[in-house]
Amino acid sequence: MSNNLALLTLQLPSLGLKNEAVKRWKPVLERWQRVIELEQNEQQKLSQGQLINPFQYGNPVRLNQKDLFKGRQRFANEVVRRILDRDRPTLVLHGPRRCGKTSFLYNLPRLFPNDILPVFLDMQSSAITNTEADFCYGLVRAVHKDCKTQGVKLPTLPKREQFKNSPYPNLEDWLYKAFEELGERRILLNLDEFEKIGTAIQNGQLTLRLFDELRHLIQHYEQLGFLFSGVQTLDELGPHWSSYFISVVPIEMLYLEPNEAKELLLNPDPDFKMRYAPGIVEELLKLTSCHPYCLQLLGASMVNQANLNKTDLITPELLQAAIEESFISGQAYFTNMWTEFTGKNPEEIAIGQEILLQIAQTDNFISMNNPIEEEVLKYMIRYHLLQKVNGRYDFEVPLLKQWVKERAVKS
Ligand SMILES: Nc1ncnc2c1ncn2[C@@H]1O[C@H](COP(=O)(O)OP(=O)(O)OP(=O)(O)O)[C@@H](O)[C@H]1O
Ligand SMILES: [Mg+2]
Repeated sequence: MSNNLALLTLQLPSLGLKNEAVKRWKPVLERWQRVIELEQNEQQKLSQGQLINPFQYGNPVRLNQKDLFKGRQRFANEVVRRILDRDRPTLVLHGPRRCGKTSFLYNLPRLFPNDILPVFLDMQSSAITNTEADFCYGLVRAVHKDCKTQGVKLPTLPKREQFKNSPYPNLEDWLYKAFEELGERRILLNLDEFEKIGTAIQNGQLTLRLFDELRHLIQHYEQLGFLFSGVQTLDELGPHWSSYFISVVPIEMLYLEPNEAKELLLNPDPDFKMRYAPGIVEELLKLTSCHPYCLQLLGASMVNQANLNKTDLITPELLQAAIEESFISGQAYFTNMWTEFTGKNPEEIAIGQEILLQIAQTDNFISMNNPIEEEVLKYMIRYHLLQKVNGRYDFEVPLLKQWVKERAVKS
């Protein structure tokens, strides 16, 4: 019910109602959504007698979780500006693991003006990267579905089998018809985890024809924009990518702004009742550098600790307990940073881990005079494990530093 109402709110501007009617209905729908949310939370509290835990650190934040999603309007505005640019560059949204790329893409319908329709395509799904026919069908299906939820009805979706023999002509025929329905509106096609296209080409599931087709679509369809999202930039992926997509603009996504991070800690849900002792919120902003995943991870652990201790106030002692708990529940994240972003090969990783341990344990870095040391330091700065401030290397996120100090085991 709550999901349907959220959907209807989004579709409202394109239902053919007069502006005044849209204005009248919007608050009504929002009010109903609120009533349902309040009742759900009330039920949850009654059943547990405890603080609700709105924080979520596993999955990306969805469009209907508007209180849990903070900030990123500046990024959306920049994307819009670029899409409307006469050059129509291909955008590459890149950023370290868990910094909020997918959540951002999920929430674009709310962050964009009504005439730009974001379409989400997850390149991690093998149903899309298995064959070129699957890719074309997956693309058409995503455009059809996401436009529909944003109130724009496009021509009927062809059957999957139709794409088997001639995927690209079928794709283009359908897009051609679909674009006639769009009028002044534009579509931004967001390919999340786009590096997986490269993997599928290496595995022989897709061929370089796909790049030709993407380039063709970018050049010939004015109403279509592309955004590739992943950890790397196109240049880092090798010559195919950077030479195929000529006009490329990279946009780097990192941490939330301090006021947005604070807002997440204080108001992740309208019914959130947890309180923080003086200084705790400031401490959390420092500890996480406003990294959205780390904030949500600690948020969830603090609610657990508050409930365990039958209180609603986070004290310095409870914060310490929450940090230890977060090292267990967030182990996959910390281990991933430790094993994947310390270097490109086992030799580099061994040096990278040595450097991180030294900095975490001694707050200092003394050169080991290893010939690949510079390379490894550059790599760890590139992926935001380390930063160099006033000539000194230190971790970007103090929470990761503490994890390395207390828990890291060399690979
Ligand atoms: N704008 C945001 N507001 C609040 N929390 C956020 C926001 N963006 C991300 N998060 C939090 O960070 C976590 C990771 O986000 P998300 O999965 O979107 O990142 P990602 O960059 O796509 O990660 P990966 O590189 O692993 O795919 C989410 O589970 C959520 O807890
Ligand atoms: Mg993601």
